[in-house]
Amino acid sequence: MTPCSRRAFVTASAGFGAGVLLPATAAGTRPEIRVASDGDGYDPWLEVDPGAVRANVRATAGLAGGRPVLAVVKNNAYGLGLAVIGPLVDAAPEVGALAVVKADEALTLRAAGVRKPILVMGAVSDAEAVELVRRDVRLAPFDDGADRRLAAVARAAGRPVAVHLDIDTGMQRVGLSWRRAVDWAARVAGAPDIRIEGAYTTFAEHAEHDAEQLARFRRVVDEARARGVGLGLLHAASSHGLFFLPEEARLDAVRPGLALYGAYPAGAAALDRAVLTPAFRLRARVVRVERLEPGDAVSYGRNYIADRPVWIATLPVGHADGYPRAAVRGCEVLIGGRVYPVIGAVSASHTIVEVGAARTVEVGDTATLVGPDHDAILPNRIAERAGISVYDVLMHLSARLPVRVRDG
Ligand SMILES: Cc1ncc(COP(=O)(O)O)c(C=O)c1O
Repeated sequence: MTPCSRRAFVTASAGFGAGVLLPATAAGTRPEIRVASDGDGYDPWLEVDPGAVRANVRATAGLAGGRPVLAVVKNNAYGLGLAVIGPLVDAAPEVGALAVVKADEALTLRAAGVRKPILVMGAVSDAEAVELVRRDVRLAPFDDGADRRLAAVARAAGRPVAVHLDIDTGMQRVGLSWRRAVDWAARVAGAPDIRIEGAYTTFAEHAEHDAEQLARFRRVVDEARARGVGLGLLHAASSHGLFFLPEEARLDAVRPGLALYGAYPAGAAALDRAVLTPAFRLRARVVRVERLEPGDAVSYGRNYIADRPVWIATLPVGHADGYPRAAVRGCEVLIGGRVYPVIGAVSASHTIVEVGAARTVEVGDTATLVGPDHDAILPNRIAERAGISVYDVLMHLSARLPVRVRDG
């Protein structure tokens, strides 16, 4: 391997801008010591394209008929980095609020400068709730005792608690059962210093069942209203709902995640209802180019054996970085305008591609493993070829990958 000439220096994460290296983890809250290169290093990285994020937000708002978008940025913004994605969606006029699942993610967003309302759609402890309420974060209770518990949280925080009631209409994951939801909502509404700002449900993404879930949700809302209890902003539709469910399921606001990052729910691209652009690239630079003789085998398990003289190239990125192990089932990698098949095995930190009969790739060349630049490396195509969920292609991206922000 040619010696790496990277100018290494330690840096504490700070702000971001075009071309600046930034740890994907909680920038601003936990300054981390990281090695940053000036672009000629061999550590794999993620590139986030702010223009694509903005275009995807507009496309989802279009699908929602102009309703406000509650942008789901959970799980480190689906792998793209909360500290980068948070401020980007915060600035989009179509976005009314941001939603996460973990308490820590909400604090990270505030520390990254996010000003819009943030909803935590997960369970939080009372101590966490106090911290969150002090930072103007909305909670999504689903416990029977939420009225008394959150009244105490409001007292401790010294300010009212704003909530979106999480109503389970048949998913059986989180949420308070629709069977008890009206009485529950009435109790929460009557508690001191709790303001019901909204209510929501989550569809199981199963055609007939979703219709039944929506009917149950509507019944809860109507019965609560008949008892003088307003449930505020109603929301349910995720990316799947935006493509597959009827207008009435879009309620007052929509709650997409996946589509914002430029990937389609399974089967949605073929509907031709919106154009989404992958908002990130997973990249690495070639570290080894070698010519195999017939009979030479590649990587763990000797899954690939050359049947002719052939060139191969090694990329220092693997499943520990988030590139799927299953990519070896037929995925390709883009290098210098051409795509090359993944061969052998995707190991924790390395991926090997077959280059062909001619040496068309050199050490130091930049490879794109996932991104918008070729059909073969679109996130949905990677998922199809690898036989995995497209959510895994995004959400398994390592939070350790440095994120570069780059338009185009
Ligand atoms: C409660 C809830 N709402 C909305 C979403 C966004 O879903 P999607 O990424 O499919 O748009 C999720 C993500 O799984 C979720 O858990």
